[in-house]
Amino acid sequence: MLQLLLLLGAATSRCLHDETQKSVNLLRPLFSQLPSNFRSSSLTLSGSRDPQPLRIQSCYIRDPVSDGAWDPEGDGMRRESRALAAMREAAQRLQGVLAVQGALLLSRDPAQYCHAVWGEPDTPNYHRCSLLNPGYKGESCLGAKIPDAHLRGYALWPEQGPPQLVQPDGPGVQNTDFLLYVRVAHTSKCHREPSLIAYAACCQLDSEDRPLAGTIVYCAQHLTSPRITHSDIVTATLHELLHALGFSGQLFKKWWDCPSGPNVRENCSTRQQVTRRDEWGQLLLTTPTVSHSLAKHLGVLGVPLGVPLEEEQGPLSSHWEARLLQGSIMTATFDGAQRTRLDPITLAAFKDSGWYQVNHSAAEKLLWGQGSGLEFGLVTTCGTGSSDFFCTGSGLGCHYLHLDKGSCSSDPVLEGCRMYKPLANRSECWKKENGFPPGAENPHGEIYHSQSRCFLANLTSQLLSGDKARHPSQISYQEEAELTGRCYLHQCTEREAYMVQVEGSPWVSCPPGKAIQIPGYYGLLFCPRGRLCQTNEGTDAVTSPPMSCSTQDLLLKLSLGLAGPLGHSLGKQEREELTEAVLQALVSRGGTDRCYFHSPSITTSLVFTVHMWKSPGCQGPSVGMLHRALTLTLQKPLEVYYGGANFTTEYSKLLVTSGHNPSMTHLGLSIGLCLMLLILVAALRTVAYRKRATLQVGPSAPYHSPELQSTRGPVGGIREV
Ligand SMILES: *[C@@H]1O[C@H](CO)[C@@H](O)[C@H](O)[C@H]1NC(C)=O
Ligand SMILES: *[C@@H]1O[C@H](CO)[C@@H](O)[C@H](O)[C@H]1NC(C)=O
Ligand SMILES: *[C@@H]1O[C@H](CO)[C@@H](O)[C@H](O)[C@H]1NC(C)=O
Ligand SMILES: *[C@@H]1O[C@H](CO)[C@@H](O)[C@H](O)[C@H]1NC(C)=O
Repeated sequence: MLQLLLLLGAATSRCLHDETQKSVNLLRPLFSQLPSNFRSSSLTLSGSRDPQPLRIQSCYIRDPVSDGAWDPEGDGMRRESRALAAMREAAQRLQGVLAVQGALLLSRDPAQYCHAVWGEPDTPNYHRCSLLNPGYKGESCLGAKIPDAHLRGYALWPEQGPPQLVQPDGPGVQNTDFLLYVRVAHTSKCHREPSLIAYAACCQLDSEDRPLAGTIVYCAQHLTSPRITHSDIVTATLHELLHALGFSGQLFKKWWDCPSGPNVRENCSTRQQVTRRDEWGQLLLTTPTVSHSLAKHLGVLGVPLGVPLEEEQGPLSSHWEARLLQGSIMTATFDGAQRTRLDPITLAAFKDSGWYQVNHSAAEKLLWGQGSGLEFGLVTTCGTGSSDFFCTGSGLGCHYLHLDKGSCSSDPVLEGCRMYKPLANRSECWKKENGFPPGAENPHGEIYHSQSRCFLANLTSQLLSGDKARHPSQISYQEEAELTGRCYLHQCTEREAYMVQVEGSPWVSCPPGKAIQIPGYYGLLFCPRGRLCQTNEGTDAVTSPPMSCSTQDLLLKLSLGLAGPLGHSLGKQEREELTEAVLQALVSRGGTDRCYFHSPSITTSLVFTVHMWKSPGCQGPSVGMLHRALTLTLQKPLEVYYGGANFTTEYSKLLVTSGHNPSMTHLGLSIGLCLMLLILVAALRTVAYRKRATLQVGPSAPYHSPELQSTRGPVGGIREV
C-alpha cells in the first residue's frame, strides 16, 4: 500500500492519525484535580450564550533530540518558521468557522507522577497521592513536553495533615479554547512513511469530553522540500487540526448529543450511536446533521443516509470514504491543496460532535458527486459509466475539477474505481510555467494561464493541418486526433456559463454539456457541465498561484484601503482582476520580484491585503529591506487604473506579523473554529464527579495506562499504582 501510494506522485500523502491517536492517553480532568472554584474551560460568561469563535493557541516545542540529529544543513529555523506559518494560516482558515471560554489549564496524569495513593475511604486523603514517582519527567503530548505553566499542580498527601505542594498550578493559558503543541522532527513515523507530511493527536479533553490540547508533528524533510507548497502544508495542517479537534475514530464515541440545541447544555449526554455498519459491512457515520448534509449533496433529500468511512487501518476510521467524498479535507489521502475543500459534510460532523457550533457559510462546495444520487460512489456502479466522475480504461482526460489534465487510474482507497488523476508532470493548466516556450509548435492551440482549465478536445490547427496535408505522411495526423485533456483559457460570464479561448481564436461561448467548434481548428471541444463557474469554486486558491515557500523569520502583512469611483461595486471576477492590478503596482513600487508577495486579496469594501516573505529561489533583498522600501514609497498614494476608473490608496498599514523567540512561540491564534459554545452547568457536573469519585479512582475516560489496582491491606491504605 505504501509503495502504491508513493507512485501517485509527490503530493499524495497518507494520514496516520488513527495509529497516532491510539498511542496517546486521553486525559480528562480528575475530580481530585479540580480546584474548588473549578470552571470548565467551556463555561460561558454569565449572561452570554452566543457562540464565541474557537481560539486556538499554538506553542512551538523545540525538539532537543531530533533538532540536532536531523539538521544536516542547519535548516532548523527555516523549518520552524515554515511550520508556524502553515499553522497560522490553517488556524486563520478556521476563523469564524468553529466557535467556544477562561484560562486553559491542563491535567496531569496521576499514573505518571504518583506511585501509590491512599486507599482508606472516609479520610480526606482518600485516593490522594501517597508516594511520588521519583522518575516523573512531567507531562508530554505526542512527544511534546508540556510546560509546567500550562499544567495543574500536584501534591503529596501525608497520612494526616495538610498536603505538601510539589508543584503549584501554573497560570494556564489565557483566552484559549484549544492548545496545539507544534513539533518539527524526523520521527520514526516520518522515516517509515516518507510521504507523510504531518500527523497529530488529541491528548486532553475537558469535562464534557471536548478536545482541549493536542500536538501536531511536522516531518522535517517536507518543510524544506520544494515539491510541497506552502498551501499544501497549510491544508495538511488543517486536516490534522480537525482530527485533533474531534474528527477521530477514537473520539466519535465521545461525541455529545444535545437535544435542546447546543446552547442549552442541560440535557446533553454522550451520543448513543455515532457509527454503525450497514448490511454490506460498510462502516458509516450516522449522526443527523452529517446524514442530512450528504443527502443534500447527493440530491436525495429525505433519504436517511450514513456517510461511509474509509477503513484503511483496522476497525477505527477517521476519514471519509474517498470514492464518495473525493476532494474533502477529511479523506485519507491528500493530493494537493488546490484539489481539497473544507466541505459542508465535514463541518456537519463538527456540529454533530455536540462541542461546536458551525458557521456553515465558511464551507467550500464539494463538486465530486454533487447531485449524483444514491448509487453514486459504490464499487458496483463506478465502473458502469453511469457517472462521469469516474472513468474506465486508462485513457487521458481531465481531472474532475478541470484544473488538471488527468489519466484514468485508481489507488487503494478507490477500491477498483477509476478517476482521472492529475498527470505526474505538467498536469496543471493554471500554471503558466507548464506552457510552451515561445515559438514552439502548439498544434492543439493550448494556453496555460491562471484562468485556463482542462477541456476534453481533439482540436487541431487548420493552418498546420493544411500545411501538412501536402505531405502525405501527415494526413493521418488530423484523422487520428484523439479526444484528450487540453488546456484552454476560460472566463465565466455568469453562474454555469462561460466562454473559452484557444490560441489565436476569438472568445467562443461554451454551453455546458455541448461540444463546440473553434474557428481556425478542426475537431471539437467539449464544454463540461456542472464543473466550471460554480459559485464557491475555490478559484481564489487557483488564481493566486499556490505559495511555494518557507517563511523567513520576518513576515509582513500589508493592508491598503482603496478609494474607487462612487457607487461602483465590484463582482468577484473584477475584484480578482483589480487585485492583480494593485499587486503589479505594488511590485513595481517595492522594486522587487513578485515572489515576495503571497495570497493577495481584495474585499468588497476595497481593502487589499497581501502577505510578504521571501520564498526560496527569490532573488533580491531581504524582507527587512522590502519593509523599508514600502514604508517609504507608500507615503505617496498608489494609483491603479482598472476598468475605466482610478483606484487610489486612502491608507496603508504594514504589519510585521512574525519573529519568534528561540524557545517557544505563542502565536495567539484566534480561531473561530468552532463552534461551539459549551455551556456547562458547573454545579451539575460537579455533583456527577462527586458521585463517580466515590465509586472509582482515576479518570472516568477510558484510559490506556495500567489500571489503578487496589491492594488495600491492614497496614495502611497504600495502593500500588
Ligand atoms: C462565518 O463565515 C463567514 C465566511 O467565512 C464570515 O464572513 C463570517 O464573519 C463568519 N461568521 C461569524 C459569526 O464568525
Ligand atoms: C430536559 O429534560 C427534562 C426531562 O426530560 C425536561 O423536562 C426539560 O424540559 C429538558 N430541558 C430542556 C432545556 O430541554
Ligand atoms: C516527469 O519529468 C521528469 C523530469 O522532467 C522526468 O524525469 C520524468 O520521467 C517525468 N515523468 C513522467 C511520468 O513523464
Ligand atoms: C473529434 O472527436 C469527435 C468526437 O469523437 C469526432 O466525431 C471527430 O471526428 C473528431 N475530429 C477530429 C478532427 O479528430
